Amino acid sequence: MVSADLAVIRCNQVVTCCGDIPKRGKSLNDLGVINQGCVASSKGQIVFVGTEADYLSQVRLEPGGTTLDGSGKTALPGLVDPHTHLPFGGSRENEFLLRIKGATYRELAAQGMGIQSTVDATRAISQDDLVSLCLSRLDIMLLHGTTTVEGKSGYGLNLKDEIKQLLALKHADQLHPVDIVKTFLGAHEVPREYKSRKGEYIKLLTQTILPEVEKNNLAEFFDIFCEEGVYSVEESRHLIAAAKKAGLKIKLHADEFVSLGGSQLAVDEGAVSAEHLITITDDGIQKMAASNTTAILLPGVPFFLLQNQKAPARALIEAGAIVALATDFNPGSSMTESQFFIMQLAVYLLNMTVEEAINAVTINAAYGIDRHTEIGSLEVGKKMDMVLCDAPNFPYLVYHFGINPVRHVIKNGKIVVRDKRTGALPQSKGRTKSLRK
Ligand code: NIG
Ligand code: FE
Repeated sequence: MVSADLAVIRCNQVVTCCGDIPKRGKSLNDLGVINQGCVASSKGQIVFVGTEADYLSQVRLEPGGTTLDGSGKTALPGLVDPHTHLPFGGSRENEFLLRIKGATYRELAAQGMGIQSTVDATRAISQDDLVSLCLSRLDIMLLHGTTTVEGKSGYGLNLKDEIKQLLALKHADQLHPVDIVKTFLGAHEVPREYKSRKGEYIKLLTQTILPEVEKNNLAEFFDIFCEEGVYSVEESRHLIAAAKKAGLKIKLHADEFVSLGGSQLAVDEGAVSAEHLITITDDGIQKMAASNTTAILLPGVPFFLLQNQKAPARALIEAGAIVALATDFNPGSSMTESQFFIMQLAVYLLNMTVEEAINAVTINAAYGIDRHTEIGSLEVGKKMDMVLCDAPNFPYLVYHFGINPVRHVIKNGKIVVRDKRTGALPQSKGRTKSLRK
């Protein structure tokens, strides 16, 4: 018998996402579904996953333990969102309206809107206000089933404001049940004041901001917008060398608008992930397929930018690449916190199967942020992060589109969303560090 303090019983389906880690090719269709399944945990860690008969004979609920009834529901691992720009000020519905009238994202950016306008808005607000914004966005994510999120800086683009964004992420992580994986994206754009002196900005990044990030352990990943008119492959290679020296792992915004070769660079440099990949070439697809670099696709972006383009999800999957999905939540190119909506776009627009889309927001998404040993699947020893949806079976999650199917969310063995409400979320994760640097 194993002892548990939380048991979720009699779920119509428990989608475990167990099996190969990461999932490629055909294994992306393996969901490890258990009908009439139960999951139990003790002190935040899963101790049992199986059928009701096995649950009854193998699990003893501790006195005072909690039981949650999963009847009529489908359970999934807590969703993982492996690419967001969480800490930003302002919003950009003005640009959205111009795009509806025919302007393109890159034209607006060339006119000084785009990323630079969010840089201005983010520089203008305090760290405390940025933390509050992050917390309310994390509430929305949690209500939509996301229990771990990657968050990037990249709207500060100077020492003070890049650090402010990373500290806001650190403090939001301390205060909110959703776990945040932090990425330094100082190379998101060349800030206005350095437009004609890009080399000097690259020096500021590598010689001033990066050492500060390293010294205070403010990020785990380093990311670059490797794109025509932003950072070239050569500049990116130089930045990556500096980031690796500082002990950071690499992610890349690659092959979004122009096939510069960012995906090949990501593979050559052993990056954990390459993201966007709308214009990836056949050579890039083959390189990604032969690597352990996760292809993180962001179908919310061309959808939101009203572009008739899409990442070649089928070709990547058929070649054997590790495919994951993310929201890319940001005010300019993908204003959504919902991984369920992204899953639906992947099926409706990228021709992915429902099974592939679910694995892409759970176990493969966890792999894309180097968290696959802790989260992303429901199996003994992993964190008890779990979502219970009002759905009789897993295909229903995509079939019934445009709504939020999440009823309950468990994070680290605690029920943090009950009946679609966050209620009083724990004030902090129990860490005692001061909120001020
Ligand atoms: O991932 N492509 C670059 N960065 C973001 C967009 C950021 C913005 O427009 O504010 C992205 O799509
Ligand atoms: Fe992005």
